[in-house]
Amino acid sequence: MTAPPLVSVDVRRALREGMPANLSVPVGADELERLTPALSDAADRLDARERAGEVGFLGLDHDAWGLEAAREAAGRLRETTDVLLVLGIGGSALGARAMNRALGPDSGRHERPDGLGRHRIEVLDTVDPSAVIATLARLDPTRTAVAVISKSGGTLETMALYRVVQPWLVAALGDRWPRHVIAVTDPERGDLRALADAVGLTSLPVPDDVGGRFSVLTAVGTLPAAYLGLDLDALLDGAADVAARARQRGLAANPAWAFAGIHHAWYAAGARVSVLATYSARLRTLGDWYAQLWAESLGKLQADGTSVGWTPSPAEGPADQHSQLQLWQQGPRDKLISVLGVSDHGVDLDVTSLPGAADAPGRWLAGRTLSELLEAERRGTIAALVQAGRPVVELTVPRVDEATIGGLVVLLEAATALAGHLLEVDPFDQPGVEGGKRFACGLLGRPGYESDGDIVRQLLGD
Ligand code: PA5
Repeated sequence: MTAPPLVSVDVRRALREGMPANLSVPVGADELERLTPALSDAADRLDARERAGEVGFLGLDHDAWGLEAAREAAGRLRETTDVLLVLGIGGSALGARAMNRALGPDSGRHERPDGLGRHRIEVLDTVDPSAVIATLARLDPTRTAVAVISKSGGTLETMALYRVVQPWLVAALGDRWPRHVIAVTDPERGDLRALADAVGLTSLPVPDDVGGRFSVLTAVGTLPAAYLGLDLDALLDGAADVAARARQRGLAANPAWAFAGIHHAWYAAGARVSVLATYSARLRTLGDWYAQLWAESLGKLQADGTSVGWTPSPAEGPADQHSQLQLWQQGPRDKLISVLGVSDHGVDLDVTSLPGAADAPGRWLAGRTLSELLEAERRGTIAALVQAGRPVVELTVPRVDEATIGGLVVLLEAATALAGHLLEVDPFDQPGVEGGKRFACGLLGRPGYESDGDIVRQLLGD
């Protein structure tokens, strides 16, 4: 028997042919198939950018991405500390958070790699003082390593956090503080690189050709993953497996083509919201990572000034069945709902019979398991949506482990890149984000940003 694919993408329930015949559904197999030349063109453009050295996320280049160096650095830090405090934001934080939730020591996973246990990570991607104070209050600086992660090396929030945390380390460690800090940044440029070189911090590279939100499988994510004790080889093997499929041509062969293609077909039919509903609590935070990837890559102006893009909406089943399902089923027909399911959760709990009167609540559930309930709710949600003619993409992984997380990351990255080219925008830039950053710097008096501060005061009338 052949093993199931690491990640499968089934679009049948997003097509007219997979819905009740009496409904008028604008997207069918023909509409999707007609996108094949556009997908092929998008793949050509992506290949050309890869060959030109501009876009490297599919290359999984272990040397340039500092895989062994991340493993070694994590091993060293694990000997003297218990917690890795990650300072980063956006693409420099969300991947570590997602892997920790899915695979870390508190994920509830059953199969545990040997190294997983005592070591934990904390991610600070906020400058809310109460959150920063609460995080530092939980930690012992003498047993804490700090990873400052910023590709540019100059992001406002991350630099401010570094300047709060460094004195906190110095107060406890004196001049030994650099041994507790590791920088993950551009190999040559930026203020963080300058700091690392001046103070002799251990540092790991973020390659030039891998953008922030596409960088989770570089040292940006592999350092925290290795610190936790996750199986990096399995993570990257899973990524390589799906990367090979993501290089194939054709909707049936390539899951990234299927995911990007079905989104584009529904975009043409008026959909604008991409829901990712995960039927695994462990995968919920991956939805936040997807939200950044999809939003920041695709929400753009085309060359003629037309605004395009999707609003991503991460959700978790079954909790969101009691929150958002009503909207998905009967609200505006502007959504494509991807339902991410897991075939085997690895662990289970029985819903038992109880003695006497205690047996009344939910008596009919006795004898079932919680994973059976979860699966019934997943299927029930899909059926409720399909009955109402609402398109559903079924994403399935056989289990949640390093290999499937690596595979999901690459699938969604490749699909995002293709979707950007289909929408005729550059999925790898983020000009809108830069504006907000400039204005905040202007308000905070950063030299060179004075006119940005003036614009904010003018716009907001103070
Ligand atoms: O995807 C992106 O480029 C952004 O979300 C960045 O990851 C984010 O702004 C943080 O940037 P940096 O890593 O330079 O601190």
